[in-house]
Amino acid sequence: MKEVLIVSGHPHLDEESFSNRIILERLTGLLPKADILRLDRAHNHYEFDIKQEQERLKKADVIVFQFPMFWYGLPALMKKYIDDVFEHGFAYGSTGTCLKDKTLLVSFTTGGAESDYQYDGEQRYPIEEFLPFLKNFAWYCGMRWGGMVYTGGLIYLPNQDEIVRQELKTKAEEHACVLADKVIQVN
Ligand SMILES: Cc1cc2nc3c(=O)[nH]c(=O)nc-3n(C[C@H](O)[C@H](O)[C@H](O)COP(=O)(O)O)c2cc1C
Repeated sequence: MKEVLIVSGHPHLDEESFSNRIILERLTGLLPKADILRLDRAHNHYEFDIKQEQERLKKADVIVFQFPMFWYGLPALMKKYIDDVFEHGFAYGSTGTCLKDKTLLVSFTTGGAESDYQYDGEQRYPIEEFLPFLKNFAWYCGMRWGGMVYTGGLIYLPNQDEIVRQELKTKAEEHACVLADKVIQVN
């Protein structure tokens, strides 16, 4: 059996998330054996228990980064986790081979509509063009690139009407199903 680690990078999952919270809730049912690391609960003023988190990573065969896109990249909390935990001698360098041959999958949401992410769209570039830094991160750590699962148009406002709320919920649930299938297919 593959060991799966899902790292959630939303900084305020309980207070400010609609979609990532639904995705994670659904994943607990779809991948009941997966280890889910909520970075919002794992830090103390943005400091992590580095050794503990490295041990967690070592046990995984498949690592999923689940996050909302913030300013075309990772939330600062997730970036800080990567900066601190994926250190020299662990993730890279001549003796840093702990992540070798593991698979990295990225799973993320945007507020911008999927149709906005194209060369002549409002966001000016296809969504794939925002991913090379993560692909290179995986490569530099000796990991395999497992691809992405992405859903756009997930802006939820507290006073949104019930029909829109249901549409967004369905999109988030479908996202979780596609991700779970992709994780199961990793070999
Ligand atoms: C600080 C911040 C930056 C954001 N940057 C982007 C962005 O660059 N592109 C985009 O499409 N949406 C952006 N959004 C919208 C979020 O991606 C969107 O609200 C999130 O994916 C929805 O997930 P959630 O309900 O779990 O928070 C941003 C939101 C915040 C709060």
